[in-house]
Amino acid sequence: MSGFTNLKNPKTSYLDSHLLEVNKKVKKMFFDTHAHLQWKSFDKDRDLVIKRAKKEDVFNIVNVGFDIDNCYKAINLATQNKGLYATVGLHPHNASQLNEKTLKVLRTISKNPFVVGIGEIGLDYYRLLSPKEVQKQAFETQLILASEQNLPVVIHNREAESDILITLSKFKGKIKGIMHCFSGDIDFAKKSIQLGFLISFAGPITYSKSYNLHDIAKWIDLKDVLIETDCPWLAPQSVRGKRNEPSYLPRIANKIADLKKLTIKEVGETTTENAKRIFNLE
Ligand code: NI
Repeated sequence: MSGFTNLKNPKTSYLDSHLLEVNKKVKKMFFDTHAHLQWKSFDKDRDLVIKRAKKEDVFNIVNVGFDIDNCYKAINLATQNKGLYATVGLHPHNASQLNEKTLKVLRTISKNPFVVGIGEIGLDYYRLLSPKEVQKQAFETQLILASEQNLPVVIHNREAESDILITLSKFKGKIKGIMHCFSGDIDFAKKSIQLGFLISFAGPITYSKSYNLHDIAKWIDLKDVLIETDCPWLAPQSVRGKRNEPSYLPRIANKIADLKKLTIKEVGETTTENAKRIFNLE
């Protein structure tokens, strides 16, 4: 990963004052690296949801795009709220929407100063809402876009570990990023880290039967870990089945702290540092 230290993001200067900093000595802090607050399920109370997040020490949130409309909405939210950022990209479910026109739009909006990554992109062989070949093509095209723009990528993987690794290997040294809502095995985690990726844990790590995720959390070095809600989906155990939101993020940090025998403050601080590093917000 040290190979990426020379990747400088020219946008950082715009964003210095946008990042919400807190006094480490008195407060905990959490960085939700993957949310979808732009989604319609937050239309009625979005401002309250953001307020509740800050009350629970979740100061920074990246809203992840998955189709063109949601990319624009995520950018608008970031423009209007301190501490919020956006990523832009077409989800593998929407891979068939990638064409010359939409790629041009993505390229243009990826230059917006509030856009900190390309995603979520990747492969989903579980639901297969787009044919495999179409997904692979859209994935590679957007990886090229990310390397052109010097932006990290947010990867969605579902039962496609082998093809994800084959594709990412072609970009080794040129791309860094995040394995969002990690769901693979320990071998996939190791190979992802070797390729310059961080492992992001979401709600499923709090489920009592997620033995595989618990083992990975115990094994992994905290410097390779991020936390996310993926809200409104995947609410943690204590609120399972409800609409998820960033204020529940500390529950995920708490579970990781339990598994690793650390304090929640340590998990919050280190994962926040990791998030700033991967999104070039330092
Ligand atoms: Ni997502």
